[in-house]
Formats: sequence, C-alpha cells, structure tokens
Amino acid sequence: MNFDNTINTSTSIISYALCNMERKAVYPGSFDPITNGHVDIIERGLKIFDRIIVAVLENPKKQPLFSTKERVRMIHDIFSDQKRIEVQSFDGLLVDFVRENNATIVIRGLRAISDFEYEFQMTLMNRKLNPDIETLFMMPNISYSFLSSNLVKEVSMLGGRLTDLVPAEVEKKLKKSIQRTHL
Ligand code: PNS
Repeated sequence: MNFDNTINTSTSIISYALCNMERKAVYPGSFDPITNGHVDIIERGLKIFDRIIVAVLENPKKQPLFSTKERVRMIHDIFSDQKRIEVQSFDGLLVDFVRENNATIVIRGLRAISDFEYEFQMTLMNRKLNPDIETLFMMPNISYSFLSSNLVKEVSMLGGRLTDLVPAEVEKKLKKSIQRTHL
C-alpha cells in the first residue's frame, strides 16, 4: 500500500472540502428589539461569513417587550432580501445551539469598554463549555457606540425620536407596543 499517495489524496479531499465549506457564524442576542447597531454588525459579518444565523434568545426568566415570535419576525422582515441571513430562536445553552447548527463561530458586537467584562466572562464560559467554539468581536460604526435596545425602549416610551437608531419597521412596532401597554 502506498501511504504517500493515500495521504496526498486525503489532504486534497480535506483541502477541497475546506475551500468549498460554507463559512457560517451565529450572532446571538436578546434583540428586544433589534437596533441599527445590530444591523451594522450583521452587515459587517456578511463581509466575512457566507451565512449568519441570527439567534434570538428565548428566555422565560426575562420579560421582554416583544415576544420571541415578534423579535424573530422583525429581524426576518429587515433582512427579507438577504438570503445569507437565517433567523432562529433558541433556549438553553448558546454553545449547544451553535453545535446543533454545525457552526463554530459566535459573533458579538463590542461597543465600548463597558461591554468588555460581561463579554469576556461569557466568552470564557462558552470556551470552557465547548473549546471548539470561538467568539469573534466586531465593533459597530462609532455612531452606534451608545446605542442599546434598553435605551431605545426608554426613549420610545418617553416619546423621543428614534430616527437612525432603529429600522423604520421597528420604530413603528415600538410605537404600537407602547400604545398597547398604555391602554
Ligand atoms: O443581547 P444580549 O442579551 O447581550 O445576549 C446575551 C446572550 C443571548 C448572548 C446570552 O445571554 C446567552 O448566550 N444566553 C444563552 C444561555 C447561555 O448559553 N448561557 C451561558 C453562557 S455565559
């Protein structure tokens, strides 16, 4: 048996598979609601990855403004023209969701130093749970460095304008939901 040939053939098959392998990442979050900062990170991620799975956390302990279904739908609608984006909800461990979707990369946005400690802890815990999963941090445009879903909800509740901070459909949904809670 010629081992050299076998090794060469196996290496070629592996290289071929790697070259043709879809580069896939998971972008997890609460997205309650999605903001232009999140959209910016997704668009940046698409420059690196062939496919991004936006993973919306379904957390029975948290009381979100929008239901999981509403959050998924909003993201789906925003990226309806972008076939490389998939939106799913998940519960349980993020590392399990990533593995079940045959991915190994998690994308997280880093806005400011204040995000660092939480992200650092989460990354290292995820690494402890599954050393094969890597977290990639991306910085959004500076104009979104102050932006958060919580602030967006507060501004909306107090009647402030959200132009340039959230997609138009999210702004409409926020207005409706705030009217709903005031009824
Ligand atoms: O948008 P958020 O709220 O900062 O996203 C946080 C999220 C969803 C990434 C995080 O809470 C998460 O991964 N939850 C799933 C539960 C889990 O895996 N916990 C252990 C990781 S430290």
